[in-house]
Amino acid sequence: MAHKIAVLSQKGGTGKTTAVRHLADVFRRSGLDVLAIDLDPQGNLSDYFDVEPSVEPTIGDVLTGRATAAEAVHDGIIPSNLSLAEAERRHIAAVLHAHDGDVPRAAAVLGVARSTLYKKLRVMGNETP
Ligand SMILES: Nc1ncnc2c1ncn2[C@@H]1O[C@H](COP(=O)(O)OP(=O)(O)OP(=O)(O)O)[C@@H](O)[C@H]1O
Ligand SMILES: [Mg+2]
Repeated sequence: MAHKIAVLSQKGGTGKTTAVRHLADVFRRSGLDVLAIDLDPQGNLSDYFDVEPSVEPTIGDVLTGRATAAEAVHDGIIPSNLSLAEAERRHIAAVLHAHDGDVPRAAAVLGVARSTLYKKLRVMGNETP
């Protein structure tokens, strides 16, 4: 039976990547099959797993439909790089477009706080209140 463990925190530098790295290592040493998935465009977990930064496909390709998850597994990890930020930007733009630019509605659909979406929109260079 498969178990999923998600490690997340909005706050930076709190040990998320380190925790995942050690959990994966300990579980593997215990004989369990472990698939790590790096969902941070910084790609730090992928670095820890010694994945080449230029490797393809990555989680960004999976989330944009260019590859299957199985195709994106490299030595026990689905790696990430900055292309994930681009995939996220495209996804947000598509959801916003589908909701006629209604940011509160798009935030609800994406399951994020409006403030988070406003921040991302600022990064995208759009005008936001
Ligand atoms: N238990 C710990 N004790 C001391 N230092 C730690 C511990 N866990 C992590 N660190 C150190 O804290 C720093 C941040 O850790 P890490 O990169 O895992 O955080 P993060 O939450 O993934 O950061 P980011 O938000 O940038 O992704 C690193 O230098 C790491 O070596
Ligand atoms: Mg991290």
